[in-house]
Amino acid sequence: MTQVKARVLSGVQPTGNLHLGNYLGAIRNFVGLQQTHDCLYCVVDMHAITVFQDPVELASNTREVAAAFIAAGVDPKNHIVFNQAQVSQHAELAWVLNCVARMGWLNRMTQFKEKAGKDREKASVGLYVYPNLMAADILLYKATHVPVGEDQKQHLELARDIAQKFNNDFNAPAFFPLPEPIIQGPATRVMSLRDGSKKMSKSDPSDLSRITMTDQADDIARKIRKAKTDPEALPETADDLSGRPEAANLLGLFAALTDQPLSTVIGQFAGAPFSSLKEQLAEVAIEKIAPIGAEMKRLTDDPATIDAILADGADRARAIAEPIMAEVRKRVGFLGN
Ligand code: TRP
Repeated sequence: MTQVKARVLSGVQPTGNLHLGNYLGAIRNFVGLQQTHDCLYCVVDMHAITVFQDPVELASNTREVAAAFIAAGVDPKNHIVFNQAQVSQHAELAWVLNCVARMGWLNRMTQFKEKAGKDREKASVGLYVYPNLMAADILLYKATHVPVGEDQKQHLELARDIAQKFNNDFNAPAFFPLPEPIIQGPATRVMSLRDGSKKMSKSDPSDLSRITMTDQADDIARKIRKAKTDPEALPETADDLSGRPEAANLLGLFAALTDQPLSTVIGQFAGAPFSSLKEQLAEVAIEKIAPIGAEMKRLTDDPATIDAILADGADRARAIAEPIMAEVRKRVGFLGN
């Protein structure tokens, strides 16, 4: 049971409208980790249905996320790309973890409060236990590192608490490693192009609020041109960004897309008008995103090939998961092999 390389696992929900926030905050960070880690990248279709999904759209969104991983540079041969529902051990471990996690822990989850909104009585039970399923995704492979956006840090803390309690309750010190978050890059929080104080979101009614991964060059240019600004010139220092969410967002995007620190980019545009930032931002966004979008289209035009990649990934994921799940069953006291 020794693990040579550190193991990375991350997941992205197939809920449609994959956008720049998903790319910069998650998917793009998956690529580099392949050099140093054994990676599993999972399309978390079971998480998606915590909010109702049209079944036909769910299937095509699942293929779209897999295509985005691959188009961005994830190698499904040397690493593992799969969808969660094909590896039933995720659901099985999630049940055990439902019985390890405490109500009080889940009651603290801010994402549930946000997503359930005012009418909490009408949220699905799945939405409430969503973080336990996420913990299962990670622990099922004894993953040590989890690249996530800022917004998932709390869920990762919970996964650590669950791992620790399982190890204690079942007298299995260090059975589950405590997973570490990897939070990379300056633009882990990509904000709406229409309102710099709101996150870029798949569900924003305005198409102009987000750049999707399959936007064509002219859409990307138009959305950046129409992005909200404020009346001042661009600031000279990072301190002057406070209270200027749109300037912060566009500069942050430029920094992320050009792989530069924000401070460098602030220096570059100090005192310039928004128009010059927008022009250059459109250029780099098109250069980075349009080829990925084109490759995603090519891949999703051939669903049989994507399905074969996901089936192969699921087989290889299961081969890692099953012995760990078998040990969980034994530790918990379940009879059978
Ligand atoms: N909850 C994550 C999100 O919405 C997606 C996710 C599910 C995930 N399982 C995971 C991320 C396991 C990292 C590891 O972004």
